[in-house]
Amino acid sequence: MQYSTFGRTGISVSRLILGTWYLPHTQTMDMKGLFPVDRQEASRVIRKALDLGINFFDTADVYRGVYNRREKGDLSMVGNSERVLGEALKGEERDSFVVSTKFMGRTGPGPNDAGLSRKHVRSAIEKSLERLGLDYVDIYLLHGQDEVTGPEISIRSMNDLISRGHILHFGASNHSPVQLEELYTAADRKSLEEPVAVQEIFNLVNRSFEGDMFRTVNRHGGASMIYSPLAQGLLAGRYSGAAGPVSRKEYEQNFDPGKAGVTEQQMTQFSDFAVAKSASMAQMALAWLLAKGKQIFPIVGASSVEQLEENVGACSIRLSESDMAELETIFGSKQS
Ligand SMILES: NC(=O)c1ccc[n+]([C@@H]2O[C@H](COP(=O)([O-])OP(=O)(O)OC[C@H]3O[C@@H](n4cnc5c(N)ncnc54)[C@H](OP(=O)(O)O)[C@@H]3O)[C@@H](O)[C@H]2O)c1
Repeated sequence: MQYSTFGRTGISVSRLILGTWYLPHTQTMDMKGLFPVDRQEASRVIRKALDLGINFFDTADVYRGVYNRREKGDLSMVGNSERVLGEALKGEERDSFVVSTKFMGRTGPGPNDAGLSRKHVRSAIEKSLERLGLDYVDIYLLHGQDEVTGPEISIRSMNDLISRGHILHFGASNHSPVQLEELYTAADRKSLEEPVAVQEIFNLVNRSFEGDMFRTVNRHGGASMIYSPLAQGLLAGRYSGAAGPVSRKEYEQNFDPGKAGVTEQQMTQFSDFAVAKSASMAQMALAWLLAKGKQIFPIVGASSVEQLEENVGACSIRLSESDMAELETIFGSKQS
């Protein structure tokens, strides 16, 4: 495993983060049309991550571990991923791992059970800590913008949580470069702590992050937590070739890997490139991201121990500048 200091925090973290949006699930659908979380397998994946040297885990208060768009209004499983992660980490030395979680999405039916308001933040962090079984969260992320709460309120409420010892640092996810800059400006104006990281999508088929966002984060010495590094499995070849175990495509009702606009020809070229380097497609897609800079931290999702083990192999792949250029030529510089 490779490690880097996370932005300006001084915390040493693994270059790969384990994500918990989707957790390993059973192979049979229940009455609700869901593939329920396989808690034992989920715990095995988290424990295996620790064995492999991953010391950074990402979750969110809204994560259910499974997803079903038809049941989007069903809030009964909200917080499931935090609970499973907390159980799996129980007994581990608190100093030995780093946890990020997020808030903003709807977690209950009440008018204040969502958003970035100070009122919601206060209860959101308390509930997350309880589900995780932790005294503090290392990195707390605004899961997006609620279009009502201003950057001054967010900066102040995050600083309050730091003072209370609930969180060590905070960051922003799904923000535009302008919205991110507004957070930095608000912090600077009041001489308060600023965001230390962003969490955004970035992969070989979606490179919009490489523009203003990357420049803004870098200018402030921040870290970049990268989600969907495999384009939700597309870049691992999850939706091409012979049918394997049930994939996200089957349980996400509206999930369409084709929306990435990737052709069979591109996938074949990518697969050939990976084979020539004695790597899998998943490893190649992750190695490309890791080579983009030491402050790029891909968050990997894995529905089995085998997938996780394979993905960690990306850390030993070294790509030359011409390899990077060749990979980028295969998919073009699409800014989707
Ligand atoms: N901030 C945000 O708004 C946001 C949004 C999305 C995600 N995230 C975070 O980012 C994490 C990762 O996102 P993601 O799950 O979309 O990441 P991803 O790595 O792009 O996709 C993970 C999926 O790819 C497939 N996969 C992984 N390794 C594989 C391998 N070696 N071989 C074949 N298939 C493989 C699995 O699909 P199957 O399940 O079908 O096997 C796995 O569930 C999340 O868990 C979450 O923590 C944050």
